[in-house]
Amino acid sequence: MLIRVPPRWHLPASACTPEGAALDRRRFLALAGFGALSAACGRTTPAGDPLALVDPGPTADRYPAPRSAAHAVDRPITDERIAASYNNFYEFSTDKEAVWREVGAFRPWPWTLTVTGLVRKPLTLDLGELVRRMPLEERVYRFRCVEAWSMVVPWTGFPLARLLAEADPLPEARFVRLITADRAAEMPGVKGQPWYPWPYFEALTLAEARHELTLLATGIYGHALPRQHGAPVRLVAPWKYGYKNIKSVVAIELVASQPATFWNKLVPHEYDFAGNVLPQRPHPRWSQASERVIGSGERLPTLAYNGYAAEVAGLYGA
Ligand code: MTE
Repeated sequence: MLIRVPPRWHLPASACTPEGAALDRRRFLALAGFGALSAACGRTTPAGDPLALVDPGPTADRYPAPRSAAHAVDRPITDERIAASYNNFYEFSTDKEAVWREVGAFRPWPWTLTVTGLVRKPLTLDLGELVRRMPLEERVYRFRCVEAWSMVVPWTGFPLARLLAEADPLPEARFVRLITADRAAEMPGVKGQPWYPWPYFEALTLAEARHELTLLATGIYGHALPRQHGAPVRLVAPWKYGYKNIKSVVAIELVASQPATFWNKLVPHEYDFAGNVLPQRPHPRWSQASERVIGSGERLPTLAYNGYAAEVAGLYGA
């Protein structure tokens, strides 16, 4: 799908949605957000291989990492090729099936990750060195997008809690803010969609960030992350909708008050700060009670907290 943005924020006649007739900027952003514009616009597939977009930099020999038996899922793992060619990464494209074709110019190495804010030991880390010293493990997690589709993904990474412990948060730190790289020259979706408040930014409560399930993922399917999945490092919190799982993170900041987050700021009535997978709480434009399994097309009931209720209920006083 191509979204061309002419003056006055009107969608082109060729847009995929009938709502596109006359939209103000706010409404355009809401629709462009998730799903509504993503359906069936045709696009020719250029040559290439979505699996060829892995650049492990200095970390190649860290994969595959041992798989954790404690994090199994009772559903089949999504085919790697399908996961690698159906992505949400607006910095490159709003068309899920086109993201992998747009990421070629993105350079994941060298990569610096900072941990700053309300910490006793601010960190400026070379990601290659960090990945080499962290205890990597593979965990198979359910992955549920707010658009009501799901996958099952084998991530490789380490608990975010490990990194936060190194920075030693101060008692007044209550939230963890994460920010994506801001590289318009390498990200055609940033250059082409200046109305979004780049760079992408997300946040968790400190308790969520320290939860055992919360990973900083540096790999997927037994190798380093390919660019379209958020190379070289991204967040994975499997009980939350995909939009919380911020990609290509360059900065982590500990703060005292709840920070703004990308989709919540743009369309607050559709994307709440928490982003927890809750099937009984419908999205204003669709039900969250069930999900379409990418690959098989099967429709399954959505599980509370994406199947992780027993692990995370304590975070929410349940
Ligand atoms: N991170 C950034 N920086 N930009 C994005 O557009 N999209 C989010 C999330 N992280 C997004 C992002 C959404 S909506 C989803 S569903 C997941 O990435 C998709 O992850 P995947 O493409 O690896 O499956």
